[in-house]
Amino acid sequence: MARIIGGVGTTHVPSIGSAIAKGLQQDPYWRPFFDGFSVAHRWLAAEKPDVAVVFYNDHGLNFFLDKMPTFAIGAASDYRNADEGWGIPVSRPFPGDAALSWHIIEQVVADEFDVTTCQEMLVDHAFTIPLALLWPGADNRPVRTVPIAVNTVQHPLPSPGRCFKLGQAVGRAIASYPQDVKVLVVGTGGLSHQLDGKRAGFINKEFDAWCLDKLVADPAALARRSTLDIVEQAGTQGVELLNWIAMRGALTGHVRELQRNYHIPISNTASALLVLESEEPMELRKAG
Ligand SMILES: [Fe+2]
Repeated sequence: MARIIGGVGTTHVPSIGSAIAKGLQQDPYWRPFFDGFSVAHRWLAAEKPDVAVVFYNDHGLNFFLDKMPTFAIGAASDYRNADEGWGIPVSRPFPGDAALSWHIIEQVVADEFDVTTCQEMLVDHAFTIPLALLWPGADNRPVRTVPIAVNTVQHPLPSPGRCFKLGQAVGRAIASYPQDVKVLVVGTGGLSHQLDGKRAGFINKEFDAWCLDKLVADPAALARRSTLDIVEQAGTQGVELLNWIAMRGALTGHVRELQRNYHIPISNTASALLVLESEEPMELRKAG
């Protein structure tokens, strides 16, 4: 049976891609950010997941404002990147896992999530940069992938509670997959930031810290907030936190915090990393 080894939440700011391309990981500005991934790298090297299921938001590469699904799941054998205009190199394609994608799609639709299915799907920096951070190296493709796009761009957005429930449905779907694969769940974006308007440059350290604490120990409290409340507290683009909430929903059973890094600012954004390892479900521990 498939098993979720844990989840990772990470920032996906485009300038990270430029820094990687220029080899600036040890530059004084970037070092505190990139060094934050050390434990994640060791953990992933030891666990060797087969698949990464990635909750992210598309910024206009595959979907645009004329057609914006609330939730979309990739079901392709590979996923191409393309020039987004940020000046970052176009990534090599990422391998998909179409069989797992279709299993997840069938299960979540049965769970009354009416997702858009994408047998072709371009993936943007919100997908490519987190994978480049977790597995450095331009040609490094150690995992197959399942992209799940959440609309955090065109209002009305899905509620935090709805995203949490989608994550739970995806987690149940993975747990019921008969193939013996190890799955990492990833949520990308955030944390607090606002790129335009009167609050451009807005960062809310207190709210970010509260979110990270709740993602570890009490995600339901985070899921009870409204979308507009998160916009107010975390900024217009800080609402990408919805992807982290979906990731956390997919982690059934107990989790252990392996790593947390919070560094501000990266390109006007509060950058964060949270690594959560799945522990055995309580009922299994009691039975054992
Ligand atoms: Fe973004």
